Amino acid sequence: MNRQILLASRPEGEPTAATFRIADAPLPVPVDGEVLVRNLYLSIDPYMRSRLATAKSYAKHVEIGDVMVGQTVGEVVESRAAGFAPGDRVLTSLGWQLYGAAPAAALRKVDDRRVPLTYYLGALGMPGMTAWFGLREIGQPKPGETVVVSAASGAVGSVVGQIAKSMGCRVVGIAGGPEKCAYARDTLGFDACVDHRAGRLHEDLAAACPDGVDVDFENVGGAVLDTVLRLMNPFSRVVLCGLVSDYNAVDPYGLKNLRMVLVQRIRLQGMIVLDWADRYGEATAGLAALYAAGGLKYRETIAAGLETAPQALIDVLRGRNFGKQLVRLA
Ligand SMILES: NC(=O)c1ccc[n+]([C@@H]2O[C@H](COP(=O)([O-])OP(=O)(O)OC[C@H]3O[C@@H](n4cnc5c(N)ncnc54)[C@H](OP(=O)(O)O)[C@@H]3O)[C@@H](O)[C@H]2O)c1
Repeated sequence: MNRQILLASRPEGEPTAATFRIADAPLPVPVDGEVLVRNLYLSIDPYMRSRLATAKSYAKHVEIGDVMVGQTVGEVVESRAAGFAPGDRVLTSLGWQLYGAAPAAALRKVDDRRVPLTYYLGALGMPGMTAWFGLREIGQPKPGETVVVSAASGAVGSVVGQIAKSMGCRVVGIAGGPEKCAYARDTLGFDACVDHRAGRLHEDLAAACPDGVDVDFENVGGAVLDTVLRLMNPFSRVVLCGLVSDYNAVDPYGLKNLRMVLVQRIRLQGMIVLDWADRYGEATAGLAALYAAGGLKYRETIAAGLETAPQALIDVLRGRNFGKQLVRLA
């Protein structure tokens, strides 16, 4: 039997247990050209919150009664497609379920002999691609410049900061709580990290950025972005990657310091990683080289069992994860 998590209702504000329901289903049977995959790990990502709502977005929402979307890494159990054999490890978009059948074109074989399998959902996966292209293509930091990154200990933020360090920048993280900040400084090698929950973000960030901010890699939005804007230099860049502090908000935060974009001639650009899909190979090679050289540290929070996926998503949106959030399915 297969087991799935379906969307049961659209949440107003924070998702709850009533947002999802568990269902058993027959094991899918692959047709010609398809592969049956047993999912081993499910990625939990902030973007999933927007798939629960019907607001205009770059990707379609999940319909009520459909399997919740998400990427997994899994193992091929049966193949009716050339190039795939039982035992192969694959990256999929099969969503919140234990098994799924997919056409070969929707799968990517991954090699877990030198890199842990789960990294293909994180540092070497979609979050890593986001960090690589967002920072390099939109942020365009130069050696010696100050790069600020929010949600600094998370899947995207931790990689952003380490790429920026490898490019010779001063890196200042923003994270929730002393433990995450200590990790950003001591393990990830950031020059400084300030705690946005400590209640004095502007003072602490100003002290950590004596030469102002040249690149803001923005993962959080809201009051965090508003505070960073006050410290930005002329002709600086904001990579608008995410607004996680607003994802559950019924009444999203209204920026007070937009004037800084005008007076400092800031270039603020939204980024969606899918726009670089044809260049993922380039980022994978660059990140794998950084990892092999010891310059890419990475941390995961792993929940156990498909049934924990809804709570894992709720936790990510509350900042309770520490590093990339995953669910172990097998
Ligand atoms: N544009 C794209 O293509 C793309 C692709 C991937 C991810 N993203 C975005 O990148 C951001 C980070 O994603 P991720 O996967 O790396 O997640 P993550 O950082 O591993 O986890 C989310 C983190 O957001 C922070 N957070 C949550 N609620 C917050 C709040 N109310 N105020 C401040 N911080 C809050 C928490 O960190 P702290 O406890 O440290 O605050 C939490 O741990 C998200 O905004 C996501 O949507 C965008």
